[in-house]
Amino acid sequence: MTEPVAFPQDRTCPYHPPTAYDALREAHPLSRVSLFDGRNVWVVTGHGTARELLTDPRLSSDRTRPAFPMPTERFAQSRNRRVALLGLDDPAHHTQRRMLVPSFTLKRTAALRPRIQETVDRLLDAVERQGPPTELVSAFALPVPSMVICALLGVPYADHDFFEEQSRRLLRGPAAADTQDARDQLEAYFGALIDRKGKDPGDGLLDELIHEQLREGKVDREELISLATILLVAGHETTANMISLGTFTLLHHPEQLAELRAEPTLMPAAVEELLRFLSIADGLLRVATEDIEVAGATIRADEGVVFSTSVINRDAGTFPEPDALDWHRSARHHVAFGFGIHQCLGQNLARAEMEIALLSLFDRLPGLRLAVPADEIPFKAGDTIQGMLELPVTW
Ligand code: HEM
Repeated sequence: MTEPVAFPQDRTCPYHPPTAYDALREAHPLSRVSLFDGRNVWVVTGHGTARELLTDPRLSSDRTRPAFPMPTERFAQSRNRRVALLGLDDPAHHTQRRMLVPSFTLKRTAALRPRIQETVDRLLDAVERQGPPTELVSAFALPVPSMVICALLGVPYADHDFFEEQSRRLLRGPAAADTQDARDQLEAYFGALIDRKGKDPGDGLLDELIHEQLREGKVDREELISLATILLVAGHETTANMISLGTFTLLHHPEQLAELRAEPTLMPAAVEELLRFLSIADGLLRVATEDIEVAGATIRADEGVVFSTSVINRDAGTFPEPDALDWHRSARHHVAFGFGIHQCLGQNLARAEMEIALLSLFDRLPGLRLAVPADEIPFKAGDTIQGMLELPVTW
């Protein structure tokens, strides 16, 4: 490859990696891309190399390091902000993660399933009452994770309009300045909520953290604010994008949808395959702190590394016929949730939400279809999180 490919780019088809990444697929398992600020960094595209590097402690997630790769101007705004978990290396990262792990185990998530089902049913009641047609992102895909994360954290759902708006601005605000302001607003909101809960406790995860960690002096108020912000944001748009893009993809693959309808027990495997196929968190970011020899190349200290999950999850050596959507393959070792110490903390919860939301949606609205031609549907521009802005449907 002569000129490095620009990263990230808009997807040509909403569920395939951008066609410009074909060159990256050919340059397996490691090549170079250029970022918006003109910097060239490494891009990892091979599955084995990705798993090797994502567990290498010589790659740092500390975005305050000057060489940390910034994929967009919006992202660059957060360079000097304190970002809990995702922005920390061990041992500081491990200390924070240990506090949260008990709330996200398979067992704790399984106990939340009836509540998720109730939320999904209520939202679908409203969709049926008001439609057809309807706009599925705002009526269903976004409120499901939003209500679930509010309930889990103990955030009053009455405030959901406020933080859905801020989290939208944070992740895809039209101007880079939006990112800064949205984060300020969310942090101010959580600061006030933590003070209120200190006096008048509730029964959410935030309350537990206030009483078990803040009071004991194991975290400070600023750290708790930044933890609450990351939990809210990380679990929110990601899951919403998987539900909406997952719905769109199923509507575009009628055979696979029919198979799923006939055999609903395939749903956990289908969710895994959709995670692999869609790879919506496309661009995990790290910087090398020392020289690393890998796959015949040397990543030098202070060089940036980007992991393109959409390309890694289409590695034909690991996933035969990678561009086919196939419920019967073993997709579970995809890296759609990352790998290594930062592997998604909320993955069990996200899987439960996706399974319940997609099963219930297609069960309740068997005639579900797009209300406009597919090429009129607005998708998010190329970024590190892929998704749909709107999904107009009818039934
Ligand atoms: C389908 C939806 C989701 C996807 C695709 C997704 C994807 C990811 C990925 C790729 C990472 C690793 C980032 C990296 O290594 O740089 C991550 C981390 C994380 N995710 Fe998720 N996520 C989803 C849902 C959730 C949910 C529901 C929560 C719950 C609150 C959540 C909370 C987190 C947190 C806290 C981290 C940081 C973990 C750490 O640094 O130790 N995510 N997620």
